[in-house]
Amino acid sequence: MSAIRVSGCIPLKGEISIQGSKNAALPMMAAALLHKGLTVLTNVPRIQDTACMMKILEALGCSCIRRGCSVFIDAGEIKKTQVPQEYVRSMRSSIILLGALLGRMGQGNCCYPGGCLIGARPIDLHLMALKKMGAVIREEDGIIEACAGKDGRLKGTEIVFSYPSVGATEQALLAAVLAEGVTIIRGAAMEPEISQLCGFLNNMGAVICGAGTKNLMIQGVRSLRDSAFRVEGDRIVAGTYGAAVMAAGGDVTLKGVRPSALKLPLALFSRSGGKVTVSESSGRLQATGIGCEKEGRIRISSKGPAGPLALKTGPYPEFPTDLQSPFMAFLAAGRGVSRIEERVFEGRFGIAGELEKMGALIRLEGKTAVIYGAGSLKGSAVKAADLRGGAALAVAALAAKGETVIEDCRHIERGYEDICRDLSALGAGIQWIGE
Ligand code: EPZ
Repeated sequence: MSAIRVSGCIPLKGEISIQGSKNAALPMMAAALLHKGLTVLTNVPRIQDTACMMKILEALGCSCIRRGCSVFIDAGEIKKTQVPQEYVRSMRSSIILLGALLGRMGQGNCCYPGGCLIGARPIDLHLMALKKMGAVIREEDGIIEACAGKDGRLKGTEIVFSYPSVGATEQALLAAVLAEGVTIIRGAAMEPEISQLCGFLNNMGAVICGAGTKNLMIQGVRSLRDSAFRVEGDRIVAGTYGAAVMAAGGDVTLKGVRPSALKLPLALFSRSGGKVTVSESSGRLQATGIGCEKEGRIRISSKGPAGPLALKTGPYPEFPTDLQSPFMAFLAAGRGVSRIEERVFEGRFGIAGELEKMGALIRLEGKTAVIYGAGSLKGSAVKAADLRGGAALAVAALAAKGETVIEDCRHIERGYEDICRDLSALGAGIQWIGE
């Protein structure tokens, strides 16, 4: 198991560029299946999940080549429509390949992705959307077999989501791009990653309006074109490193992320005693289908323990659930009593027990965690159990007196290119200590 050793209480200084967004890149890679030709994605993060998606696409018949941060996907020949089970089990988001396979091939098979540590994570909204578009879906022994009906093409329709599920919105988008007629999605997720996906699809020749709102309109087309697109910086990685500054103190600039994608977390850093200044970058306009967005710079500085906060997670633009654990980590080392209500996933307070080994005082009351800021934490041996919880333990360790060893850090490698590379570039005493 890979482990990380951290020597805490060293203020962070300097500036780093933030990797491309995992949660934007994955649906774009899946969407490349829709085009009988070449798709080039740049700024694709070098993480386990994107490597896994490349393996899935290759198993389906695509050729995928990575050159640095660029990934070249040639989906000219699709030889299979069965998503390999071993990958679906390790990466839940591969379920959206079903919509892409139905759109491109008129059929697709995928096993149930199952739940994970943070929650049950059902896919009822995914399947409802596909069925509304005419897909015939058979579920047997955990396998989902879907076909697009007698003429092999899904039909545009109106889909109403009872919850703005990110994955289900991506599923419906990928299924609608090549469907016959118009699809209206009401109650769509509005996360920045969805807007990026719409911009990417439009850049491929899709016809999608409403990106960034809860109502999307997709006019089905018969074919798409070769395209190249840049994945934006990862707002969750940037937010994690902002939490690290709030934990350890210091003065850090994060480059390559759109500040507007992190509005509420940045406001909360300020409310908790941090100083936040943002600026748009000079170059790199990105056609995202909703006008040109610029990526920017975020400067965060903090002196001394963070002040208390009360926050609730929710669908964008509410507070992102993926930053809940990193915020819990720096608040546990801060002052005063904070309250976090987790309203997206039912099992996302996993790190509370590990933080308590570091001297944190946290009381869990159903969906709410009450954090009694200890003013500081103490180094300890802790264990990562999920992606964002693992990264949050690194945040907490930066605030801890003495040394912390975090076991089982393979979870962190799923979404962070190299958390040790990034944080040590900011002066943190953090390194991998191997298997
Ligand atoms: C995406 O997961 C992200 N993953 C998650 O990031 C993120 O936490 C989540 O969106 C919320 O923002 C990727 O983009 C790869 P949802 P997803 O469908 O699509 C319920 C990370 O750490 N729901 O919006 O699975 C579900 O149970 C990961 O990078 C249904 O009930 O999230 C949950 O309570 C973790 N039925 C809520 O919606 C469905 O059919 C949010 O799920 C689908 C979802």
